[in-house]
Amino acid sequence: MFSSSTYIERRKALSGKLSGGVVLLLGNGESPINYHANAYRFRQDSTFLYYFGLDLPDLAAIVDVDSGQATLFGDDFTVDDIIWMGPQPSVKELAEKAGVHLTCPRRSLAETVQGYVGKGRKVHTLRPYRAEGYGELREIFGTVPDASVELIRAVVSMRDKKSAEEIAQIEYACDTAYKMHTTAMQMCREGVSEREIAGAMEGIALRRGWGTSFHSIVSQRGEVLHNHNYDGTLENGRLLLVDAGAEATSGYTSDNTRTIPVGGRFSGRQKEIYDIVLAANNHAFEISRPGVRYVDVHLAAARVILDGLQGLGLVKGPVDEAVAAGAHYLFMPHGLGHQMGLDVHDMENLGEQYVGYDDETRRSDDLATRACRMGRRLETGMVVTVEPGIYFVPELIAKWRAEGTCSEFVYFPKVEKYIGFGGIRLEDDMLITPSGNRLLGERRIPITTDEVESVVIKV
Ligand code: GLY
Ligand code: MN
Ligand code: MN
Repeated sequence: MFSSSTYIERRKALSGKLSGGVVLLLGNGESPINYHANAYRFRQDSTFLYYFGLDLPDLAAIVDVDSGQATLFGDDFTVDDIIWMGPQPSVKELAEKAGVHLTCPRRSLAETVQGYVGKGRKVHTLRPYRAEGYGELREIFGTVPDASVELIRAVVSMRDKKSAEEIAQIEYACDTAYKMHTTAMQMCREGVSEREIAGAMEGIALRRGWGTSFHSIVSQRGEVLHNHNYDGTLENGRLLLVDAGAEATSGYTSDNTRTIPVGGRFSGRQKEIYDIVLAANNHAFEISRPGVRYVDVHLAAARVILDGLQGLGLVKGPVDEAVAAGAHYLFMPHGLGHQMGLDVHDMENLGEQYVGYDDETRRSDDLATRACRMGRRLETGMVVTVEPGIYFVPELIAKWRAEGTCSEFVYFPKVEKYIGFGGIRLEDDMLITPSGNRLLGERRIPITTDEVESVVIKV
């Protein structure tokens, strides 16, 4: 965790953004696999981590906006716990690390909050995302209260701009991803299983932190966007899509995708599609800077993709009109990127309308932008992913052809020739700077076809 002054300053800034009342932040508890002592790896709630830095279960906190006082709620471990867990810091010691002077037993949380409610003070809460969180709020309030929009906006306005110490942590996670992805490239040859590559990558992530920041995607079926199976064995001539990132022990994350030719040589056809995706990725870096709406970067990347596909005969008609109609959705049915930080999809539990959109830039249902989860204006300090892709999803192609969707822009007989091609995605992590942006990580993971081919170990 950072020094206590970081958390003191963050809580002070949070209080300054709110009109009054108290903020209730619930930390996460353990999540059992089958019984309480056999739990999934503990993951702290990221907003709690942001304001308190304490990465242990069963904590909660109240920040009194009017007095500026913070109280940490938690219980000291008993000897019975310590037999299993080893010596643990006391709640007082934890509070000190977070710059908090007041501590209370966890069981007094409900009564304390009810006391504030009884006095007519506003209690700001966030929307829970686990069943346990709903249960806790119900226990305290008798019902699950509406999340405080004032609090959500205040939290987003802080978490969405990363400080230098946060960026250092994200870059550490990016450097871990560099090692993960170059290892995957080296292993990408016929006969190796997807599972072996996933395992090697996860091992690297664990050696340098908490492990991966989400379920790694390691698949020759790249057109299946969230393919978490690792049951394939690599075959020469196919493409392996690897989407994986790391989580530092501080909780900060990375998220990168590379698409690798099995055996180390792209075919001419693969290279043609690959270079279009790479051009879209590079173009996003060329135009992203403070003040630009990310939905416009999404559309600009879509234009590069449709322009490139027109050159190959898959797309027809005026490209600007094809983009406006959303023809790119057939090839890239996802957004260009999302914010990244303590969560790999940073803050998305707080509500997309506050994180990816705002009063000025609203989510649209149009085909052209409906997949875009991050659309609002970029600001200095934001971290976003840049992840264009081209996929050939047989079911989507068949549906569009049957419906005649975008038939004035898509030349289906040619597109159908790519069924079985799979998919290509190239994902980098970008920091918005006052003058534009920069790629996060010490080095860019090999990305040109020549660079990738040179890393794959040929046998
Ligand atoms: N792996 C999910 C993503 O890139 O957003
Ligand atoms: Mn990803
Ligand atoms: Mn991503």
